[in-house]
Amino acid sequence: MTASPAHPAENQSPDWSDIEGSAAPGYFVDYLDRVTAQSEMRRYKQRTYRLLGVGPGSRILDIGCGTGDDALAMAAMVGDGGRVVGLDHSQSLIDEARTRVTAETAAVEFTAGDVHRLDFPDGGFDGCRADRVFMHLRDRERALAEMIRVTRPGGRVLVREPDWDTLIIDGPGRDLTRRVIQGHFDRVVLNGWAGRELYRLFRRAGLERVEIADTSTLVLTDFATANQFYGLEAAARALNGEADGWLDHLRQADADGLFFSAVTGFTAVGHKR
Ligand SMILES: C[S@@+](CC[C@H](N)C(=O)[O-])C[C@H]1O[C@@H](n2cnc3c(N)ncnc32)[C@H](O)[C@@H]1O
Repeated sequence: MTASPAHPAENQSPDWSDIEGSAAPGYFVDYLDRVTAQSEMRRYKQRTYRLLGVGPGSRILDIGCGTGDDALAMAAMVGDGGRVVGLDHSQSLIDEARTRVTAETAAVEFTAGDVHRLDFPDGGFDGCRADRVFMHLRDRERALAEMIRVTRPGGRVLVREPDWDTLIIDGPGRDLTRRVIQGHFDRVVLNGWAGRELYRLFRRAGLERVEIADTSTLVLTDFATANQFYGLEAAARALNGEADGWLDHLRQADADGLFFSAVTGFTAVGHKR
């Protein structure tokens, strides 16, 4: 594995709601590429395309598209008669996504924007998805309402989110492990409970045939990857020395081939009336 670009700053975590203001160039691209390289991530992403009904001729909007890989995969599925738009708050990620377009994925376009105020007319898309975006949003009801607005009647809306209170680590001491992990995610993401609230959000938004159509657990058994994905060192540092031994224990467990972590994600799907 190649060296990764610097983490934003000591004792801090990246701010996904303000990418340009928060980290070294390349950090987010590298992070997303490493996450997407996990086979379980690729599996659930493929499933989201099927649940959204993506096929030849589909018009699809991917909210918070990041480096654009999902939009590009769907562009290859919709073909010449379809259209995929990838939208992201971050201009630098949109720039990166544009570099990844090929002849097979020419049905895609990438645009900068904010899901809270989508600059698209009503009902122009057959499907709209957001993958690991809602945890970073100020107003998730408004974002979902916007996604529904731009979807045609009968079209589908899909959101995928982890729930960070489901992140379990085989650490020393239950109380300390809970405090390190849960305290960390309470600080670094706006809403670590995004996963569990999807069903309620979708039902309240008036979508039909709402279901949590897929759940899965990402298991990581190496400390380096878990540390990069979850910021375990930053999480421990926040306890001002109290969790130094906790971190040493995890590193030793890793050296002994015994490190274990797992987090669960949820995919909600609903149909627009
Ligand atoms: C964790 S990344 C997920 C990226 C991509 N969906 C994936 O699965 O690889 C979250 C993305 O949401 C974007 N984002 C955050 N707030 C947003 C907003 N208000 N409107 C649109 N995109 C937003 C970020 O810029 C970032 O690219």
